[in-house]
Amino acid sequence: MASPNFFYIISILFLQLVLVFGNVTLSSTLSTNNNNSWLSPSGEFAFGFRQLNKNNTNFFMLAIWYNKISDKTIVWTAQNDNNLVQAPKGSQIQLTSGGLTLTTSQGDSLWTAQPNNAVSYGTMLDTGNFVLVNKTSTFVWESFNFPTDTLLPKQSLDLSGTLTSRFSETNFSSGRFQLYFNGDNILMSPLAWPTQLRYDSYYSSNVPENYNSSSLVFDELGDIYVETNNINGTRVKPPGKNWGDLVLDSKLYYYRATLDYYGVFTQYSHPRDINAKQGWSIMRYVPDDICIDIRSDFGSGTCGYNSYCSIENQRPSCKCPYGYSLTDQSNQFGGCQLNFPLGCEVDNGEVLNVKPEEVYEYSVVEGVDWPLSDYERLQPYSQ
Ligand SMILES: *[C@@H]1O[C@H](CO)[C@@H](O)[C@H](O)[C@H]1NC(C)=O
Ligand SMILES: *[C@@H]1O[C@H](CO)[C@@H](O)[C@H](O)[C@H]1NC(C)=O
Ligand SMILES: *[C@@H]1O[C@H](CO)[C@@H](O)[C@H](O)[C@H]1NC(C)=O
Ligand SMILES: *[C@@H]1O[C@H](CO)[C@@H](O)[C@H](O)[C@H]1NC(C)=O
Ligand SMILES: *[C@@H]1O[C@H](CO)[C@@H](O)[C@H](O)[C@H]1NC(C)=O
Ligand SMILES: *[C@@H]1O[C@H](CO)[C@@H](O)[C@H](O)[C@H]1NC(C)=O
Repeated sequence: MASPNFFYIISILFLQLVLVFGNVTLSSTLSTNNNNSWLSPSGEFAFGFRQLNKNNTNFFMLAIWYNKISDKTIVWTAQNDNNLVQAPKGSQIQLTSGGLTLTTSQGDSLWTAQPNNAVSYGTMLDTGNFVLVNKTSTFVWESFNFPTDTLLPKQSLDLSGTLTSRFSETNFSSGRFQLYFNGDNILMSPLAWPTQLRYDSYYSSNVPENYNSSSLVFDELGDIYVETNNINGTRVKPPGKNWGDLVLDSKLYYYRATLDYYGVFTQYSHPRDINAKQGWSIMRYVPDDICIDIRSDFGSGTCGYNSYCSIENQRPSCKCPYGYSLTDQSNQFGGCQLNFPLGCEVDNGEVLNVKPEEVYEYSVVEGVDWPLSDYERLQPYSQ
């Protein structure tokens, strides 16, 4: 007597699991108005909408994130030509045989992923790759092929691929640094803002000539190297004194590699065990010292103008000299500005009503050098 009910309950449970964790079927939608997302089978990765920032409930980004850890770290965002797609409240994403379409509540298209081949279904994989699959089980679109600032194990960057840093820790708009292939070499360059012109590179993977690089690989085990066709050894390790050999264990740790918003390419680890101490740890990074490795005539280094940079706890720290303060109080990488007015009117006592010699003072700053990048200099601007 009990068995029909029992099966009924089982099948309802099963249906719910399929809805949440299974393949994303055609005509499925997600909206910014609810908190739904498409999860990977293990629940470790999610695809869906995230608020643009903590305080903004009116705009969202389409993203993939680690869903089991408390940080809910974002590893991918939808972009158009390197510009973050900002979806107003009420927008929705829909899967059809044509692909993915992100539209506003008025029906305006904001972003699409439209492969040449008809799509049968989509899936958020446990690797963090969201894929669209055709009838014969070929991936016809993969988020892994459109990385933003982060690579995950099993994801590689091909010769035309780039990583672009975000603008700041909490601002996912396209930022000030880029990692890319130039011939056989991985380079990193500052970007002019807002034109995104690449300035001189501050890091090179120094792949020997004739090695014929094919990609930057983040392998299943968690190692990262440039894959080449050289007969004497196909893997070239990124050169750098803070890029050591590691004991890796991807069963115990999540790994990710991110071009951080201050221009450092860093491999991080995070324990999978939710009872272990949470948070991402720095494993290794390049370049050695971002404060002195950016030596371009253009741009203003990692800290912005009128500031100085030092490495603290393996990260750059930006400070303002005496008499200056941060241009944007919430962004230490946004440069500094004078705390006092400057100009002939000041010198003539017209502004502060004091003698010129009382307006200015000298202050000694020890152990600091501004070798280049004295001022922000932007290209391509003529004035
Ligand atoms: C969505 O989920 C997040 C994380 O669990 C929570 O902070 C937020 O308040 C939720 N938003 C809505 C509209 O339910
Ligand atoms: C968000 O709001 C809080 C409290 O109003 C404020 O302290 C914080 O600076 C805001 N954060 C951003 C990113 O605007
Ligand atoms: C699926 O995509 C692959 C690769 O593009 C293609 O070779 C195959 O014919 C496609 N299958 C169908 C049913 O279109
Ligand atoms: C992020 O930074 C860009 C560049 O300064 C700015 O235009 C944009 O408004 C910022 N976005 C948010 C959400 O603060
Ligand atoms: C590298 O590419 C060049 C030009 O395409 C080719 O002549 C050379 O044989 C290649 N070398 C290797 C090791 O594949
Ligand atoms: C491979 O190694 C041999 C012996 O050290 C050397 O003669 C040869 O030039 C190397 N070839 C390449 C493509 O690096």
